[in-house]
Amino acid sequence: MSESRTRDVRNHVLFEVATEVANRVGGIYSVLKSKAQVTTAEYGSTYTLLGPLNRASAAVEVEEIPPKDPALVATIKSMNERGIKTLYGRWLIDGAPRVLLFDTSTGYNKLDEWKGDLWSTAGIPSPPDDHETNEAIVFGYLIAWFLGEYVYHEKERAVIAQFHEWLAGVALPLCRRRKIDVTTIFTTHATLLGRYLCAGSVDFYNNLQYFDVDAEAGKRGIYHRYCIERGAAHSADVFTTVSHITAYESEHLLKRKPDGVLPNGLNVKKFSATHEFQNLHQTNKERITDFIRGHFYGHNDFDPEKTLYFFTAGRYEYRNKGVDMFIESLARLNHLMKSAGSDVTVVAFIIMPAQTTSLAVEALKGQAVIKSLRDTLGHIERNIGKKLFDKSLTWQEGQDIPDEKDLLSAQDKIMLRRRLYAMKRHNLPPIVTHNLVNDAEDPILNQIRRCQLFNHPSDRVKVIFHPEFLSSGNPVLPMDYDDFVRGTHMGVFSSYYEPWGYTPAECTVMGVPSITTNLSGFGCYMEELIENASDYGIYIVDRRMKGVDDSVNQLADFMFDFTKKSKRQRINQRNRTERLSDLLDWKRMGMEYVKARQLALRRAYPNSFSEGDDEPSFFDGSDGLKISRPLSAPGSPRDKSGMMTPGDFASLQEGREGLSTEDYIAWKLPEEEEEDYPFPLTLKQ
Ligand code: UDP
Ligand code: G6P
Ligand code: GLC
Repeated sequence: MSESRTRDVRNHVLFEVATEVANRVGGIYSVLKSKAQVTTAEYGSTYTLLGPLNRASAAVEVEEIPPKDPALVATIKSMNERGIKTLYGRWLIDGAPRVLLFDTSTGYNKLDEWKGDLWSTAGIPSPPDDHETNEAIVFGYLIAWFLGEYVYHEKERAVIAQFHEWLAGVALPLCRRRKIDVTTIFTTHATLLGRYLCAGSVDFYNNLQYFDVDAEAGKRGIYHRYCIERGAAHSADVFTTVSHITAYESEHLLKRKPDGVLPNGLNVKKFSATHEFQNLHQTNKERITDFIRGHFYGHNDFDPEKTLYFFTAGRYEYRNKGVDMFIESLARLNHLMKSAGSDVTVVAFIIMPAQTTSLAVEALKGQAVIKSLRDTLGHIERNIGKKLFDKSLTWQEGQDIPDEKDLLSAQDKIMLRRRLYAMKRHNLPPIVTHNLVNDAEDPILNQIRRCQLFNHPSDRVKVIFHPEFLSSGNPVLPMDYDDFVRGTHMGVFSSYYEPWGYTPAECTVMGVPSITTNLSGFGCYMEELIENASDYGIYIVDRRMKGVDDSVNQLADFMFDFTKKSKRQRINQRNRTERLSDLLDWKRMGMEYVKARQLALRRAYPNSFSEGDDEPSFFDGSDGLKISRPLSAPGSPRDKSGMMTPGDFASLQEGREGLSTEDYIAWKLPEEEEEDYPFPLTLKQ
């Protein structure tokens, strides 16, 4: 930071730094991508995302353009001249933000020098062969280099740099040590220790205060990574995280209490016709049903109209993502449904990438068998149509009308018989769609084995494990993830460690009910906000106060109750779920980012705020300032929720006095349709 500390804070420049810029890995990509629209609406060309260059994904996601900002042009030119390759362009997503991607491979010749520097200036060690850490170091040094040069060329405007997660955090201690004249925010989306400890078998939440953090990190071989994370948290002007639960965890594990919570939003797209999302459910459900018919060939003894699709999805973190609990609950659900004589079938999908060698022959065969059947029947249908047409053409009064028995030729019958025999099966429908590298030791498969969920005809709960993310190019289940989610009836995310959890939030905005837990940021957020969440398709399993067995039963009960709903009730519930979308819209959530940025400016440049300046000029739209009012219409006066902001649960206290909810809040309760929506949504005050 500068000693003089006077820069134009009103017309500041914003950089956001992360490893998932135009490069999907997990939820941070979802944060950046979905938020882009509101951030570019605020900042226009003064907002740039900085990330490492992944050529494969950049080729698809980024369109190269020349930079215009003179300081940016000069900085990029200087770095390029010294051998660092970059790509500047627009990220081809809503909002089309500008991105600057650095080819880290062009910085590796300095790796040893930088590692030495990191040790001597920040006391952060780095072992030789941790590739991920090496990447983080090179990327961090390139970012610090970039920011240092940028503020050398840009002398007027203040610069905010917001960093996401430890992988992008190496530049933070460097900015501080080198006194680079920028203000910084570090946002963590998890803690390394939290993720590691929870994945083991510790009672994490009851012992948070007591962990010997250095020793625990050392035992797991992540001490150097932990140092980077902790160094980033302590070097930033403002430190934030994504939920209260992770704020508490950060306070104890990173030893800095976050300044506030920036909950994750989504880019909510409304359909012009209210029921459009219901139609999408129906069409995508039929696509899933097509897959099911193939997968269960020879065992299609359950009625698609009485079949419900449940799923869980995410990175393969068996315990953290609660897959252990999900499978156990499915076994209990199976038992409950059998005992109750239910005629409903639940097909539960587990979508989690594991190491695979290829698609399983049985899975491919199932789809092929059904495709041949469909092709053959199409052929027979055309033959019958043609024959019927010809017979009708020559029909004379007094003759019998064409008899259906004469329509199916002997050859058609043989073809049909062949197809029917091809569907005979002596084994049970498979659980997993791919060949796993480590089938015998795979935790998901072992739990399924232990719970004996083998897709037996008598089972009311069937299980399919798809160990790859979904894509429309996949020959077995050719659907993109969003389409798949829309086609299902319920998402189940019984996480033990989940700082936020985009997957249930995404279900909500697509009008799909979901189950989550009170150990996930999203679950806690919704529980805080809504009185009668389960009526709205937000079920929250208690994993905090209950013992494991009780939590498993609660999850099984939620699912069992859901199987007893009529179609009409499901349709109504989906309508109610979808009505919650606005609560998760970045137009509402984004305000916490605004507060964090303002706090960062105030901390770094207190002299740039005149005495008695009580800040509203930042937000009153005067002076042509870009921080915008909300993008949509203000809430109606009768709407109490208009008084609430996501920040009512956060605490960016220092920076927020000047902010009032009217500055941005856009949530308007949709009109009630009494018949369809018997449950009034009660927001907690
Ligand atoms: N996801 C995906 N394809 C899939 C399953 C999941 O793209 O087949 C995405 C999902 O849309 C979500 C992200 O993966 O945005 C997971 O984010 P979350 O915050 O739930 O968990 P994280 O992986 O960050 O821990
Ligand atoms: C949507 C469609 C309806 C369909 C229903 C099926 O609401 O608009 O036409 O009947 O989905 O719902 P279900 O819960 O049975 O999949
Ligand atoms: C992390 C967390 C996840 C969160 C995501 C985005 O990867 O595991 O819970 O939703 O970041 O903040």
